[in-house]
Amino acid sequence: MPFILCHSPKGGSGTSFVAAHLAMALAEAGHATTAIDFTRQDSLKLYFGLTPAQQLPDLDLPSDQGLTIAGVSLRQGHRVSKAADFARALAEGELPLANDGFTIADVSADDLALRDLLLPQAALTVVPITPTALGLATLTQVGSGTPLIDLDYTAFVISRLDETRRFARNAHTFLRELLGSKLVGAIHEDECANEATAMAQMLPRYATASVALADMRALARTVAEVCGQTSDEEEAA
Ligand SMILES: Nc1ncnc2c1ncn2[C@@H]1O[C@H](COP(=O)(O)OP(=O)(O)O)[C@@H](O)[C@H]1O
Ligand SMILES: [Mg+2]
Repeated sequence: MPFILCHSPKGGSGTSFVAAHLAMALAEAGHATTAIDFTRQDSLKLYFGLTPAQQLPDLDLPSDQGLTIAGVSLRQGHRVSKAADFARALAEGELPLANDGFTIADVSADDLALRDLLLPQAALTVVPITPTALGLATLTQVGSGTPLIDLDYTAFVISRLDETRRFARNAHTFLRELLGSKLVGAIHEDECANEATAMAQMLPRYATASVALADMRALARTVAEVCGQTSDEEEAA
């Protein structure tokens, strides 16, 4: 079942935000969903209303020791990914990456070694890009000898879009023309995202009318479609 890698060439692009809310929206649409935080920063959990002191269960713990919030089974994969036998365990299918339903991986911008190890497992790589000069500059970055833009199974998402800013509006238009069907969504900058995290609350509970939340639900529908997965709820609708 689909393994989705969330990775941006630039930190602060909203990758963890996108990974967390993509997982929540897929679960809300009726898909079995697991989210794995592979970052040392360990911030995915904050989007699930947890506090910095709370720990996610490690990826290699048995499934009965899991933690499920908002229908998403949550795991911490950073420690496991740095273990000496991680590449072997991954290659031999020992890690629970191919559960039923979707598995969403949050990989930090600077962990290119892990990104390259996980890429062959991924049905889709979701790449958040901010509509800023530095965000656009990352498009030229080369991954495994290939510019990002030429990689198959790569879906770009404009992240933290503030349409009151002229540069952001122009960058959005430019990216739409440049990326065509590889641009699968846009997530608006939404102050509620920060407020919800600061209050240790999940965005879907803190701000039901959040624009970024609506954007994430639309992105989840597109991702499910691209991966050929339609939930029972979506079929009934
Ligand atoms: N759509 C959004 N609206 C407002 N703030 C956002 C949005 N997406 C991310 N953020 C904020 O931007 C910062 C960086 O986001 P994060 O997901 O941690 O990025 P990354 O994982 O790429 O480093 C965080 O403070 C996060 O809450
Ligand atoms: Mg992150």
